[in-house]
Amino acid sequence: MDDLKAKYLDLIAGAGDESALEELRVQAVGKKGEISLQMRELGKMSPEERQVMGPKLNALKDEINSALAAKKAALADAALDERLRAEWLDVTLPVRPQRQGTIHPVSQVWEECTAIFADMGFSVAEGPQVETDWYNFDALNIPGHHPARAEMDTFYMHRAEGDNRPPHVLRTHTSPVQIRSMEQGGAPTRIICPGRVYRADYDQTHTPMFHQVEGLAIDRDISMANLKWVLEEFFSAYFGTKVKTRFRASHFPFTEPSAEVDIQCSWENGTVKVGEGDGWLEVLGSGMIHPKVLQAGGIDPNEWQGFAFGMGIDRIAMLKYGIPDLRAFFDSDLRWLRHYGFSALQVPTIRGGV
Ligand code: DAH
Repeated sequence: MDDLKAKYLDLIAGAGDESALEELRVQAVGKKGEISLQMRELGKMSPEERQVMGPKLNALKDEINSALAAKKAALADAALDERLRAEWLDVTLPVRPQRQGTIHPVSQVWEECTAIFADMGFSVAEGPQVETDWYNFDALNIPGHHPARAEMDTFYMHRAEGDNRPPHVLRTHTSPVQIRSMEQGGAPTRIICPGRVYRADYDQTHTPMFHQVEGLAIDRDISMANLKWVLEEFFSAYFGTKVKTRFRASHFPFTEPSAEVDIQCSWENGTVKVGEGDGWLEVLGSGMIHPKVLQAGGIDPNEWQGFAFGMGIDRIAMLKYGIPDLRAFFDSDLRWLRHYGFSALQVPTIRGGV
């Protein structure tokens, strides 16, 4: 029995894997295993012999079983160790470089405008890009024969023959949103409307689609002084430096009086710097809302008055970020987008209280 014990403990110790171990178990203590067969012999023994051999065989069987169990556990531990070693990952390694998209300068400046005007209590309104000619022109005091209609190089929507609905246009400016917000919110109100606008025009500073932001403030005692303060506050925050404005008398059908607004700038070696020098650059149209426009929006001009302005988003983006050609904005050239685009995490710069 000692030989048997020595033999199996030796074999078990040397087993390389679980299946070898299982073979050994069958060979030793399985139904027809060497030790099981010995136990069957007990029946043939005399009671005295059996009393000696029985406990010994049982002890041997127990010992083999626990050696098998111990070895099995050791093999499993070793397998786990091996797996942990083989499947090890260095989570501190940098990831493979991935191309990141950028925020388009128009989107960036749109956000900047929204943030600055929001600080001054303006909320954002939107309107459709396909407008009726009433909202785009008539309600803004631009009647059918008015030269402004022709000047705007308007895109008209196609009408099938026999379709007699009034014409729809691609809005030529964001001003129709003035009327829609008056209808919806009444007075008093303070809103801006950033959005796409369309005109049939194409050169270095004009594209058939571009962006404007409209501003509108209506209350009982709003004046040109409020307009001037709001615009100077806006430009100073936007350009991050104190910017003076110059108001020049002008004419728009939807405002009376009307003013074109210039911002202070310097020209050096062909580059513009805003907020310094004694040059001026035209950036927007504005004025006191015409009584007829208030009326078209359902607001009583005897009780309310306000200012409005309209400004090109693309234009002020070109000025702030030194982008020379407007057409490149909409070419979707990846090299341009990577160069002029902004990181998604770059928070718009707005400097209040300059
Ligand atoms: N809608 C004008 C344009 O597209 C810009 C403009 C001028 C808007 C004067 C206004 C304004 O609100 O008061 O050229």
